[in-house]
Amino acid sequence: VKVLGIETSCDETAVAIYDSEKGLLSHTLFSQIDLHAEYGGVVPELASRDHIRKISPLVTQVLKDAGCDKQALNAIAYTSGPGLIGALLVGDCFARSFAAALAIPAIPVHHLEGHLLAPMLETPAPMYPFLALLVSGGHSQIIEVKMLGDYQILGESLDDAAGEAFDKAAKMLGLGYPGGPAIAAIAEKGEQGRFVFPKPMCDRPGLDMSFSGLKTFCLNIIAKCKKEGIFNAQCQADIAHAFQTAVVETLVIKCRRAVDQSNAKQLVIAGGVGANQYLRKRLQEECDKRNVSLFYPRIEFCTDNGAMIAYAGCQRLLQNAYLKDAKVKPRWPLTDYCRAIQAHSTTNN
Ligand code: KG4
Ligand code: ZN
Repeated sequence: VKVLGIETSCDETAVAIYDSEKGLLSHTLFSQIDLHAEYGGVVPELASRDHIRKISPLVTQVLKDAGCDKQALNAIAYTSGPGLIGALLVGDCFARSFAAALAIPAIPVHHLEGHLLAPMLETPAPMYPFLALLVSGGHSQIIEVKMLGDYQILGESLDDAAGEAFDKAAKMLGLGYPGGPAIAAIAEKGEQGRFVFPKPMCDRPGLDMSFSGLKTFCLNIIAKCKKEGIFNAQCQADIAHAFQTAVVETLVIKCRRAVDQSNAKQLVIAGGVGANQYLRKRLQEECDKRNVSLFYPRIEFCTDNGAMIAYAGCQRLLQNAYLKDAKVKPRWPLTDYCRAIQAHSTTNN
């Protein structure tokens, strides 16, 4: 079956077509980074308007790239939450109208389920069950993925998400938006050990995390350096290096604990922060020591994309386990989504 996937939860308009037999047929994306850069972050109203402008031409393009007629589609999957409400509504309206016109199902997909399953688009792909580190702009969670729709959150950030911390620290350092790639880039030139950030919540047991303290720590170091008149490009790079090390090492410690405690043999990295090369390198080292296989999607499928939504929607369609009717949700715990689908299937059967 062929499923068109549409992602509009934040600042990328992304679409793709996934075929259950042939795999990913085509995918494309328009990033609004330039549009929001001058504001230092995503402006929701501008995001919605731009999704409206781009969505239809992008859908035409993926159909053409896949050499696929719209009549050949079996379903249209779209991100139904969490995300910016106006942005989500664009994808929701488009997907449901298009599906109604073609008389095929519209499949609401949870954005994080998309991220979680994105490594399945690669070869080799992980096999259920696996452990996942999901680190994006809005979430930092360690999840036990037993099978499609059976996700147990083992630990999560109690405050800021890892990506959010990267974005905020970058802003303080006077770097552009989005902050993750900007910090990673200058951290390469940073001197190891000139500054040392704390590793939050690593001295106590458990898998929960906290990243908001690093923000304050970063702010104080910058203020101190500015006061001493030593805040220059090298200093900026040294702070970025120390910050990245603290976030990555915290995630590594938590993953190591999760692997040891669950005896998992496969670890998956998903979400935008998963694009971070230092995080990948460190987790690879730790996994090698433990004989654990590490999986991650290609860089472009770590950050928001349509392929992950098309893939997740396709799996949902094949198992006939999806919501037949859903309202977009700016906040939406992953477990609520799974529970709603289960309740739905029980009433249907
Ligand atoms: O998954 P994503 O595209 O959107 C959300 O669902 O949130 O993640 C975006 C986040 C941003 O906070 C961005 O700064 C971060 O991922 N990010 C990175 C890198 N690339 C993107 N963080 C660290 N290093 C990177 N290379
Ligand atoms: Zn995302």
